[in-house]
Amino acid sequence: MSFPTQRPRRLRSTPAIRDLFSEVDLSPRDFIAPMFVREALSDRREISTLPGVFQHSIDSLKKEIEEHLQSDVRAVMLFGIPEIKDANGSAAWSEDGIAQLAIREVKATFGSDLVLFADLCLDEYTSHGHCGVVERGSVDNDKTIELYGKIAVAQADAGVDFVAPSGMMDGQVARIRNALDSANHSGVGVLAYSVKFASSLYGPFRGAVEVEIADGGDRKGYQQDFRRSTEALFEAMLDESEGADILMVKPALTYLDILAKVKAMTNLPVAAYQVSGEYAMIRAAEAAGYIDGPAVAIEQLTAIKRAGADLILTYFAKQVAGQIR
Ligand code: PBG
Repeated sequence: MSFPTQRPRRLRSTPAIRDLFSEVDLSPRDFIAPMFVREALSDRREISTLPGVFQHSIDSLKKEIEEHLQSDVRAVMLFGIPEIKDANGSAAWSEDGIAQLAIREVKATFGSDLVLFADLCLDEYTSHGHCGVVERGSVDNDKTIELYGKIAVAQADAGVDFVAPSGMMDGQVARIRNALDSANHSGVGVLAYSVKFASSLYGPFRGAVEVEIADGGDRKGYQQDFRRSTEALFEAMLDESEGADILMVKPALTYLDILAKVKAMTNLPVAAYQVSGEYAMIRAAEAAGYIDGPAVAIEQLTAIKRAGADLILTYFAKQVAGQIR
């Protein structure tokens, strides 16, 4: 009989030993919590496709942020949902658009205790649900990024710390960086949704922001094809060269291979977005009694960090912060 001399189980034998050798520890300080603020609401309203996540009034948003700060989650990604949408999404950049109003109030309340990111896109604001200006049946890239520049300046004027362009238009980061700098906002950063796949995992989010793409359309003409990986690296490299401060990969779990590659090729911080469908799948399986939801949430978020994410956008932020403290 020969017995092994190498015994990896030695390093797994007690909780303290396992903790000593763990390489990845989740922290609430890694998290950015996505939040929705909806015009014309008097109180928060639960999103049916995202149990435990709400559309907020500005007041209930502030309460939610307060609770996150108490859990040590100090960063928020804000999405605005207007009462009225139009063809060009003009409420996205108007001074009294819902996102700008919320940014102003939130910043007046929490100041630098909170790191405030704002999603920068048009789909929540357009009547057709596309992320830009539609001309002759497709989204016009260059007209759209002009509008993105205006949104960036409006959000920066309101006091946001980082803008987060999510529309996947070519040249959007450079256009936004230039618009911010020209408006004396060189201190406002850009978190670029650099690698964003045309994913069916955004389904529950569309309910949250009341977006339906006209004529059964999709975003495959601007978001990336999940059958390609080298293109993702090219997109990340372009955003870096255009002046992004943070590169993001989205969705997270199905693209850990891409996340690891992006992390290896850049010296910028890398974020990953555990999107609405990833959250909803865990919550639904938990509700059905199939899985231990909180345990699965921690396992998946740890995997996302292990693969290379410095920051994680997750709807689980507050819950998991409570679990890991
Ligand atoms: C676009 C945007 C989307 C998400 C974040 N920003 C939707 C889309 O691209 O269709 C998805 C987030 C999620 O699913 O949690 N403004």
